Amino acid sequence: MQSSCRICGGVVLKSIDLGQQPRGNGFLLPRDVENELTFHLTMGLCGSCTMAQLQGEVPQELRYHESYPYHASVSAVHREHFEGNARYFLEHELTGPDPFIVEIGSNDGVMLATIAQAGVRHLGVEPSKEVAELSMARGVRVLSEFFDETTATKIRLEHGPADVIFGANCIAHIAHLASVCRGVESLLGPDGVFVFEEPYFGAVVDNTAFDMIYDEHSFYFAVRSIKAMAERFGLELVNAEPLPLHGGTMRYTLGRPGMRTPAPAVAEFLDEERARGLGEHETLLRFSARVERIRDDLNALLARIRAEGHRVVGYGAPAKTTTVTNYCGIGPDQIPYVVDNTPAKQGRLVPGTHIPVLPPSAFHEDYPEYALLFAWNHAEEIMAKETAFRDRGGRWILYVPDVHVL
Ligand code: TYD
Ligand code: ZN
Repeated sequence: MQSSCRICGGVVLKSIDLGQQPRGNGFLLPRDVENELTFHLTMGLCGSCTMAQLQGEVPQELRYHESYPYHASVSAVHREHFEGNARYFLEHELTGPDPFIVEIGSNDGVMLATIAQAGVRHLGVEPSKEVAELSMARGVRVLSEFFDETTATKIRLEHGPADVIFGANCIAHIAHLASVCRGVESLLGPDGVFVFEEPYFGAVVDNTAFDMIYDEHSFYFAVRSIKAMAERFGLELVNAEPLPLHGGTMRYTLGRPGMRTPAPAVAEFLDEERARGLGEHETLLRFSARVERIRDDLNALLARIRAEGHRVVGYGAPAKTTTVTNYCGIGPDQIPYVVDNTPAKQGRLVPGTHIPVLPPSAFHEDYPEYALLFAWNHAEEIMAKETAFRDRGGRWILYVPDVHVL
């Protein structure tokens, strides 16, 4: 399958085929299973600018709407990280007279709340009304719209140029990314920075984290593809900093050309990516072969555990759960339930495979022998608080970078 690149118009060749999939975050009520829709999920690499991206359009009727259950503040580690970001911006970037920061996809206001408390001008742009309301309750100013070229122009007219435009775990979601880049270019002040943190494609490949691929993740960024994107839209990539979040995140900083000296890390990552062939189709075909291996190994392990008369339940119901269970064909027969601490997901079913999502108390009240950790990017935090499970002989199953039992 071929499609054209959303950034440069080049040819995107299919590298990974995850079959028919529902929406990753389409956790549904039992009464709605009849009406569930699926689409063919494939990812490919642009032969020109090397941007990894989903192919084709996710059908309009499948896109996410207002009841998006993701809350950035749900993890203590993430909360601290975003508060740290806010403090960094306050100390290093928002130091001029009457500074202004815009956050694209401000979610529940976890980052901007600290900015608001410092009395600094800010604006969150968050299309999901439910989470936008949570942030307003924290004293954060929010525009409940999609960020694009038009919104950016409107913000600039009303508020003036931005010293910082920030986005975390949302820029790679935006299918109309080209319009976002044009918007950033018009909204950014002369020495402003566009900073965004997104899962790093190099880490996705290292971890064989195929479960990071689902409808909302339109793009998978690497330093090379972001550098090309920046240049295409009149900006310059001036820094790339790896972060230990979401199983491997990269923070990119873009400025206006010539305004900041690029950090040595940019050239270093470019060399590293070239050496490992990150932007090459063959690398992704090998990735794809490893994904098939994980599917086979995981199914074999679950069958063996069941044959031994033991139970496996799922821990965490991130959107990743949808990709893994649908791709591997794992349903309630193999995994009777998953637990998750997000109230909005509890009482619902995993999209496509219809495994019930229960509150963590279900796990604590009746420990199974095995727990399959879908929220593996939070492994440290989760294992630290679930020591009682281990103490009673419980074992964790992980499926990245390969299937193993801890
Ligand atoms: P996350 O990786 O943050 O999001 P995504 O869906 O984008 O991959 O999701 C982690 C999920 O794990 C989220 O639904 C909350 C859940 N979770 C728990 O149930 N317990 C925990 O201790 C933590 C940290 C997360
Ligand atoms: Zn391209």
